[in-house]
Amino acid sequence: MNEKTDLRALRGQIVYSESSNKLKICENGYLVYEANKIEGVYPILPEEYEGILVEDYGDRIIVPGFVDLHVHAPQYAFRGLGMDMELLDWLETNTFPEESKYKDIIYAKKAYQMFVDNLKKSATTRACIFATIHKESTILLMDMLEKAGLATMVGKVNMDRNSPDYLREETEESVNETISWLEEVQKKQYQHTRPILTPRFIPSCTDELMHKLKDIQVKYQIPVQSHLSENYGEIAWVQELCPESEFYGDAYDQFGLFGRDSKTVMAHCVHSDENEIRRMKENGVFIAHCPESNTNLSSGVAPIRQYLQEGIHVGLGSDVAAGSTENMFVAMRYAVQASKLRWRLKDEKLTQLTMPEVFYMATKGGGEFFGKVGSFEAGYEMDAVVLDDKRLIHPQEMNVEQRLERMIYLADEREVYAKYVAGEKVAD
Ligand code: GUN
Ligand code: FE
Repeated sequence: MNEKTDLRALRGQIVYSESSNKLKICENGYLVYEANKIEGVYPILPEEYEGILVEDYGDRIIVPGFVDLHVHAPQYAFRGLGMDMELLDWLETNTFPEESKYKDIIYAKKAYQMFVDNLKKSATTRACIFATIHKESTILLMDMLEKAGLATMVGKVNMDRNSPDYLREETEESVNETISWLEEVQKKQYQHTRPILTPRFIPSCTDELMHKLKDIQVKYQIPVQSHLSENYGEIAWVQELCPESEFYGDAYDQFGLFGRDSKTVMAHCVHSDENEIRRMKENGVFIAHCPESNTNLSSGVAPIRQYLQEGIHVGLGSDVAAGSTENMFVAMRYAVQASKLRWRLKDEKLTQLTMPEVFYMATKGGGEFFGKVGSFEAGYEMDAVVLDDKRLIHPQEMNVEQRLERMIYLADEREVYAKYVAGEKVAD
């Protein structure tokens, strides 16, 4: 037996991203890790590791766990419903009434359990999650995610204007509840569940609230998530609400809630102009590309090829319930398909996204928001998913890359055979 007893390995068909457009494949390889840290991937187990515990997954494919950079847990209940609207009507008609129900902890428990159970079964290991304005049910959701063994960032949402009475906080209340939520969460000492500051979007938050949220961000040193440049009506509204801002992202930046000194992820960025794109790049803002949501709400198609060329951090988001599913294979296939339509119909200079690129965004691209996550390079955190594609029958032999591509188009949680988050196997 090897002396370093925390050392272990998974054996199988190993795939991860070498760069944004190149896969690294090690057939019948060994993924060696010690506790929560990857040591490396090897075609033959090096001598120094002889005798360590090896879990042999045979012909199954082992990939880094998928990262969902943007998802709304309380919207899980109405996914697949009410899609024939654009963003602002959809929020009023579907989203706000449902989110108001999470004031009731009994309802929250029932509905959040469905979300957490299904996220656990999926190929997702990490996620940035919006809850609602309600502190109690947000903490309940965090308790459930921690118990499920997933690694997440979860936000109590802030909203103090332009929302119905039943889903709006007073400014002071929003500030105090946020502080009280953070204090309670600190005491919980979760292993894998972190708070993230979550102003819903500029139309929902007064200037006064945004200033105070910045103070909270500085005091508690937490990351930030919100929405940006998703829909034309929304962008015009932000210009009216913040006439002094140069562009939508500048409205966040004026309050210090747009990257720079705080890790920040913005969902969508479908219609960002050149100034906004430059600022996101300068400030190190992450973009959560949510192609299914952008299709369902007729928002448009974000210029992801440009973002990748500029070296901006890009990951993928399911954006449930504007996106219909937590299944990140679906987000990957939509990302490819939407980019093809954009290329043909809107801008011939920005070519389609490829399979290796969307795989990169779903793993290493989004994973970077969590630190060294989303790759099997040495030093990365040990998040891995073992995929079994035997259900997806085929009359010929296929190579590993072909099998992965097919899964992007055909797979769901049924292909998830085993899952490891931060070095620990997630129990069935
Ligand atoms: N903008 C503000 N709130 C939301 C939301 O819940 N979903 C989406 N897609 N966009 C938003
Ligand atoms: Fe969203």
